[in-house]
Amino acid sequence: MTICRVCAGPLQEFADFGRHPLSDAFRRPEDDSEEFFFRLAVGSCASCTMVQLVEEVPRELMFHEGYPYYSSGSAFMRAHFEAAARGFLDRAGPDGFIVELGCNDGAMLHVVAEAGGRHLGIEPSGAVAAVAASRGVRVVGEFFDEDLAAGIRACDGPADVIFAANTLCHIPYVNSVLKGVSTLLAPDGIFVFEDPYFADILAKSSFDQIYDEHFYFFTAGSVANLAARHGLELVAAERLPVHGGEVRYTLMRAGAGLPSASVTDLLAAEAVYGVTEEATLKQFQSTVERIRTDLTGLLSLLRDKGKTVAGYGATAKSATVTNFCGIGPDLVSYVCDTTPAKQGRLTPGVHLPVRPHSAFAESYPDYALLFAWNHATEIMAKEQEFTRSGGRWITYVPEVTITP
Ligand code: SAH
Ligand code: TMP
Ligand code: ZN
Repeated sequence: MTICRVCAGPLQEFADFGRHPLSDAFRRPEDDSEEFFFRLAVGSCASCTMVQLVEEVPRELMFHEGYPYYSSGSAFMRAHFEAAARGFLDRAGPDGFIVELGCNDGAMLHVVAEAGGRHLGIEPSGAVAAVAASRGVRVVGEFFDEDLAAGIRACDGPADVIFAANTLCHIPYVNSVLKGVSTLLAPDGIFVFEDPYFADILAKSSFDQIYDEHFYFFTAGSVANLAARHGLELVAAERLPVHGGEVRYTLMRAGAGLPSASVTDLLAAEAVYGVTEEATLKQFQSTVERIRTDLTGLLSLLRDKGKTVAGYGATAKSATVTNFCGIGPDLVSYVCDTTPAKQGRLTPGVHLPVRPHSAFAESYPDYALLFAWNHATEIMAKEQEFTRSGGRWITYVPEVTITP
């Protein structure tokens, strides 16, 4: 039996996607070394309700010098993080200390640095951390855990704000992280983290949010339980319209803040929805199967008709879709992406070539399969010429759709 990484309770597996490669392991075409594969499966803890991967990938295989995800690649996300930074500066006050776990290229902390705020970014992935440093961000190139937290506390004192975006869900040793947060946080400090919301993943059947790096899929219920194990309390849970639906959770030391109605509201909505009930999870599984059948059916039909299809956005999510559905270069000729670190490489597992955006703009395909569907508004706004010239978008969550 597999046990829960948070509470050691029994894990009930509800989806198995088979063998998958590392979602951000873009390969050089000449690389003939063996690819790393693991079993991508998800379970829900019968005790604490935490939804999590069944198999853990060693962190050094995912987060290293060449980690190719740059947070500032989306204008919408840049604005989102800059607004968050202004809120944290207000909250922390002129002498406050703001810490970010997984600060990546400094999308949030560069604003704090420019405002002269006392801050520290923790970022183990070398190349993205170097970009943050070049923007004036003070960065530590390590993995955050309870030991690192004790060192930071000893050097810099307590933190008024600790922030983590799309990072806490990446960390299997979350108990150590929360112990660290508890060590580092000022008595009235806040720990704010935002991650894909499991109820949104169910509602949209966005199974492509499930990949090696996304170890946990939080709900207000599972976060409240996790916080309580560490003397912390969930005081706010705000839904966010980013990355296909996230929640921004705020934790404080138990008793330090009054939980807002957002917490009771979200807990009540999760009970009504039945987020970890067997029937809900079964429904998710069958919808995912249908999406696979519909998407591979459509792509095969288009190939047989001689239509060209390109992928748009070499996202980590696309590793799940392409490998689960068996979408290789016969169905999608290449994927365009604006990230230089991904260009000229092959996507993990199915080996679709990644090309710069110019490949798309200079010769539009008949169809673009939107792997970066979470950035649809931003992308469709700038690609109006594609649709004006007859191009069509294919999206696949919550169902396979062609627009216009
Ligand atoms: N916060 C950014 C980046 C998210 S990607 C955003 O929302 O866009 C996740 C990041 O977490 C990666 O940059 C990875 O290197 C970092 N990370 C992984 N494990 C970590 C840990 N234990 N402590 C701090 N950062 C970590
Ligand atoms: P994400 O969905 O994990 O944020 O990844 C988005 C990927 O898509 C990332 O590799 C950058 C790429 N991208 C583009 O190529 N063009 C765009 O306009 C946007 C917003 C993202
Ligand atoms: Zn548990």
